[in-house]
Amino acid sequence: VDGARPLKTYRGEAVDVTFDPGACVHCGFCTKALPSVFDLKRRPWILPDGADAQSVIDAVKACPSGALRYVPKQGQAAEAPDARPSAVAARHGPLHVRGDLRVVGADGTEHRGTRFTLCRCGQSKRMPFCDVSHREARFRDPAPVPPPAPGASPSDAPTG
Ligand code: SF4
Ligand code: FES
Repeated sequence: VDGARPLKTYRGEAVDVTFDPGACVHCGFCTKALPSVFDLKRRPWILPDGADAQSVIDAVKACPSGALRYVPKQGQAAEAPDARPSAVAARHGPLHVRGDLRVVGADGTEHRGTRFTLCRCGQSKRMPFCDVSHREARFRDPAPVPPPAPGASPSDAPTG
């Protein structure tokens, strides 16, 4: 995420993909989106030539943590941040933030990027980012509040 860790590069004819294992939050988006390219049971687990370049780039851009990135080759544009920044909480999991981002940790370390997953459970050892500790910690969001019953009036609302 912050460039301090070594990235693994997977080379293809049309596009190269880099992977930062420390940033991956094991969401499975990539393996679900393009199993011909991303397959954990295969070595190497990323085969950039397993699909057309645009599909690979789209799957890379859908990686919420920024663990996956692509290296533009001839004719390919570098990744542009989402025009509209967003922060979306994964249920029982991290906050997915996207946009032209500058994240500053409590120690003052600055991270710039287009996609990050921020810890919501308080248990990460890689703050402010998620390191999947929420699973072991059994972090749970509260149950959604059920919609009011049909015909219920505000006076039916529970108090206290
Ligand atoms: S989409 Fe990104 S964060 Fe999710 S499993 Fe794949 S590499 Fe990891
Ligand atoms: S939300 Fe994943 S480690 Fe806290």
